[in-house]
Formats: sequence, C-alpha cells, structure tokens
Amino acid sequence: MLKPAEIHQGSSERRLGMEVVNPTAKSKKLAHPAAHAPRIFADTATMEEIKPLKEGGIVNGVTTNPTLLKRAGATSWVTADKIQKEIVKYMAPYPVSLELTELEPAKMIKQAKKLAGFGSNVVVKVPVGGYSTVERDRLTGLKVLRQLWELNIKTNATLIFNTTQAFWAANAGASYVSPFLGRVADYLYKHDQVERHAGNALYYIENHKAPEGGPERQANTAYVAAGGDRKDAGIRLINEIVSVFNTYQIKTEVLAASFRNAVQVMECLLAGADILTVPAPILMGVADHPLSDEGMKAFYEDSKVFDK
Ligand code: E4P
Repeated sequence: MLKPAEIHQGSSERRLGMEVVNPTAKSKKLAHPAAHAPRIFADTATMEEIKPLKEGGIVNGVTTNPTLLKRAGATSWVTADKIQKEIVKYMAPYPVSLELTELEPAKMIKQAKKLAGFGSNVVVKVPVGGYSTVERDRLTGLKVLRQLWELNIKTNATLIFNTTQAFWAANAGASYVSPFLGRVADYLYKHDQVERHAGNALYYIENHKAPEGGPERQANTAYVAAGGDRKDAGIRLINEIVSVFNTYQIKTEVLAASFRNAVQVMECLLAGADILTVPAPILMGVADHPLSDEGMKAFYEDSKVFDK
C-alpha cells in the first residue's frame, strides 16, 4: 500500500492552480473546507444509480462507456443517445464523459461534435490506443485528441495503462486521462501467485457488506488487499502519472477509473488522483466500516436509555 510520504510534494501547488471543486457561495459564512478536494464521479450510465448519488451531493460528474450504456438498457444508437442526453441534462453543469465508437479520424471528429452538442458539460472520451488491433493507424487516438483540443472540445483520454500513454494524451491536449487501475489488478491477479496476508485492508473487505452486492467481492479484491509491490500496481500507476503531471505542472486531470473495491478508493486518494470515477455499489458503501457499524449500534442502543 502507498504510504502518505509517497504523495508527490508538488501536489498541492498543482491542484491550487486548478478549478475549485467545492466552491463557497458569497452569501455563506462557513467556507467549504475541501475546496480543492478530488472530485468523485459515478461510473455508470444508469439514471436510477446516478440520481441518489447526485441528490446526496456524493458525485459531481459521470463517466460512461459503451458497456455501461448496454448495461443501462441501450439496444440501439437511438436508445443509447437518449440515455446519454438524459444524463447530460440531469448532471449539468457537471461533466459527463461520453465515449467515441467510430475508428476513422474524420468520423470520430463528426461523432465528437455530435456528442458535444448534447450539452456544454459533455467531455468526449477518446481511447488513446489499441487501434492497431482493428487495423487502424496506431496514433489515431492522439491525433483525434489534438484535433478536438483545437476545436475547444473537452476530452477524456481513456484505456490508459501506463504513464507514457497518459503523458502523450496530455501533450495532445486531453482534459482528463483515465488510467484503469482495476483492470491492471485483474491482469496481475490472473497472472501472479496470490499471497494472502490478513492486513487492515483485507480485514475491511472481508468484513464489509457491500450494499446490494456490487463488485466489491470480485476476485481481485483479495489480491489487491494482500499487499506487496505488484499487488497495488494499479494504484502505483496513478501515483506515477500524478508525479509526472506535478513535476511539469500539467493541468490535465488524472481520473482514476475501473474500481473494484473501496480499498482502491482510499489508496487512490493517497496516490493523489484528481478525480475518482467509482461504480455506484462501491460508492454506496464508502461511509461504512465494520467498526463503524459496531460503534453506531452501541451508541444507538445506549441513547435509548435517555428515552425513558
Ligand atoms: C470509466 O471511465 C471506465 O470506462 C470504467 O471505469 C472501466 O471500468 P471496468 O474496468 O470495470 O470496465
């Protein structure tokens, strides 16, 4: 697990130069204590999940992708666009990432303009790499990111798995970069020999009841919680990108994505992520801890004595 000392020292300077996340209205006497806190987005395209999280002030943005749209019930471009427009309208002015699916630069730009037309809070998600697997120019993503920057369209460079990709996306003009820490952990879980040491994180996960199920009990949870150098490779990736961006005062925001459990949420905060996009079932559990449950129950029981 990352230690607080590993947080890059330039972090606060860079974040102070960025947009205030929790502004305080002039009429208010009590200034918001976490003005430059990392932003939390909901990683879902399902309105029933987004609504309570936005109403509760838990999230101030949303990220979607074609898989999440399918999960939300989209069965055609018409229904996918309907869902995307609804989220954009509901979340305004907060950012909503909508992903490109076209693969030819001209068509990608056309699609990006269409998506950006859904609302001024749209951020166009552009896969940074992988184009050679579909027999396209390997630099397609970077070229499109650059063109969209020139067109004043905000972008989220997605499918980031190393710091070089993140740096090049930022250099191309991306507003956000999305490293997929959970998929890194999935990969290592599959390929490494898993050690099992019961530490704090493991204790937390094994004793933590995820409300309505959710991805918390996915296989790599134990792997991530078990500690060790490679076990938190996803988190280290976030930390590495943040360190490079701090060093060069790059204002592209590091949007940690692909969460599998609440421990990764906490570790991403240590790693210095600017934004965390988290699936709704994990967000529903972030206020919980087995000892909070125990303590609350005891306070509740004891306070009942005063009712007599
Ligand atoms: C968000 O922007 C990503 O698309 C998402 O977090 C990917 O998550 P997954 O690895 O669970 O598919």
